[in-house]
Amino acid sequence: MSDDLPGRFRASWNEIALLGRDADSGGYLRYALTEPELQLRAWFRAQAERRGLPVTEDGNGNLFAHWGDPEGTDAVLTGSHFDSVPHGGAYDGPLGIVSAFLAVDELRAAGATEVRPLVVAAFVEEEGARFGVPCLGSRLLTGVLPADRAAGLRDAAGVSFADALGGQPAGARPELLGRFAAFVELHVEQGRALVDADAPVGVASAIWPHGRWRFDVVGEGNHAGTTRMADRRDPMLTYAFGVLAANKEARLRGAHATVGRVAVEPNATNAIPSKVTGWLDARAADPETLTGLVDAVRAKLAERARRDGTEVGFTEESVTPLVAFDDDLAGRLAGLLDAPVLPTGAGHDAGVLAAHLPTAMLFVRNPTGVSHSPAEAASDDDCAAGIRALARVLEELTCR
Ligand code: GLV
Ligand code: MN
Ligand code: MN
Repeated sequence: MSDDLPGRFRASWNEIALLGRDADSGGYLRYALTEPELQLRAWFRAQAERRGLPVTEDGNGNLFAHWGDPEGTDAVLTGSHFDSVPHGGAYDGPLGIVSAFLAVDELRAAGATEVRPLVVAAFVEEEGARFGVPCLGSRLLTGVLPADRAAGLRDAAGVSFADALGGQPAGARPELLGRFAAFVELHVEQGRALVDADAPVGVASAIWPHGRWRFDVVGEGNHAGTTRMADRRDPMLTYAFGVLAANKEARLRGAHATVGRVAVEPNATNAIPSKVTGWLDARAADPETLTGLVDAVRAKLAERARRDGTEVGFTEESVTPLVAFDDDLAGRLAGLLDAPVLPTGAGHDAGVLAAHLPTAMLFVRNPTGVSHSPAEAASDDDCAAGIRALARVLEELTCR
């Protein structure tokens, strides 16, 4: 069955390539539980049905396709997510799901008979692009996020997660989680480490601790033409200073800080804003550096607010601790695949699940090194190499 795997990958990929694609940017608008993502979920069910894999849901929006007894224990879980950031790339998420189904085909064609059940998952709202909290589905499943908190999260149009889901989320499912012996997520690489290593596939060692903080700066809305400069209480100034401070503090620490989202009220060219809200995404190699970075940004914002006559509220929206993937598993897989081992600054459902079960990640080379952008890329040959690697790993974990 390994014949023309790149071609079979392409055929499968083309089935979803237009779903949620914005013709102007070439990027994807696949927000959780909106029409394009629902179509991708329907595609997931069709793929599972085509292979005779029954599909179950966990009451949190996560989907599971089962090769083997859906109630079976010691199962090996693989998969990823369908949702995207605004105008995101094609591969971040869907590659892990498409590859999982094709890895099942590889295993079956090779005559593998599973000893442990194999489960393909599609996790909901991994990016947090709609409801603000990343890895929402895996946080709910594991109980890291309480169901009532998730239920009340709202999207930009005011729709709650519970309404989008069609009911209250089930929350923690320890009995379901307890059936999984391991999780392996295949993902496009979101940097250039594999390009530099000249390797099509890598194994993850760790995910940097990271989080999201919202800062609301309130000032006084007023007329742009008549308000003397000295009389202004302009929240845009405090916000702008905060963005520059975040950049400087991150550089000083070898960390990452990004303000990629902003909301301005009333958002008029000829009005001093009454309120500016920014979202800080901060990441660092260790938790102390991350805390130091965020504390420094918060302190600088507060100091600047005093000078601007504004007020700042600083709210933690989500924090993911340092994830060190299971050393033994990563080492075993790196040996099996003869692949480099690398850390990443990107968040994943695998990072949430790693606190609950042995977890590993495989990365597929991205020639542009760009992600969360339409420029994200992977060649069909490298995707096929990723599928073969995943099949080997799943065989190792399920078939003996
Ligand atoms: C998800 O891709 C993240 O790292 O924010
Ligand atoms: Mn992403
Ligand atoms: Mn992803």
